[in-house]
Amino acid sequence: MTYCIVSTHDHSELVPVTGRWRWQGFFKERGIALQDVLRYERERASSREHLPRTFVLLEEREPVGMVTLAENDLEIRPNLNPWLADLYVAEPFRGRGHGLRLVQGLEAKAREKGIDRLWLFTTGAAKLYAKAGWIAVETVTRQGDAMTIMNREF
Ligand SMILES: CC(C)(COP(=O)(O)OP(=O)(O)OC[C@H]1O[C@@H](n2cnc3c(N)ncnc32)[C@H](O)[C@@H]1OP(=O)(O)O)[C@@H](O)C(=O)NCCC(=O)NCCS
Repeated sequence: MTYCIVSTHDHSELVPVTGRWRWQGFFKERGIALQDVLRYERERASSREHLPRTFVLLEEREPVGMVTLAENDLEIRPNLNPWLADLYVAEPFRGRGHGLRLVQGLEAKAREKGIDRLWLFTTGAAKLYAKAGWIAVETVTRQGDAMTIMNREF
């Protein structure tokens, strides 16, 4: 298999794909409309700001998952940055190592940008990140959900 990681900043044709995934994975259950997420996705992809950047994993040129490098992701910890955010693998492609590939791909992109420390929070996938070398540093509760904050230094 050939794998490649590209950003939606350079490949705007992938914006409808990542927008739909972001909605499906993180916004739909909160009652937020797909159209709003797609508009936000387009704005973020075309931004000239350094961050955020969304990266897509292509398997033989087919998009299978995404992850975002964001300046901030958790409003109760504004002093921590930048963050690995919104890791998502399309359902038919799960369980084949793409989640880990995306985490490691994002780390490589961060290093290219001179970043040597990343943060993330997760409610259920701490084990996956621990496999990639991330360390749990804190458990916090937000809107009734227990979340683990994790850290990775290169
Ligand atoms: C979580 C998600 C990205 C994992 O993607 P994936 O491609 O299936 O992950 P991988 O195949 O790389 O799994 C790597 C390892 O992590 C484990 N793992 C995967 N998802 C996990 C989860 N949700 N919780 C705990 N461990 C998990 C796998 O069992 C695997 O371990 P193994 O090699 O011992 O079997 C995917 O299930 C998804 O998109 N879920 C919906 C969105 C989401 O919850 N994202 C995480 C936000 S923090």
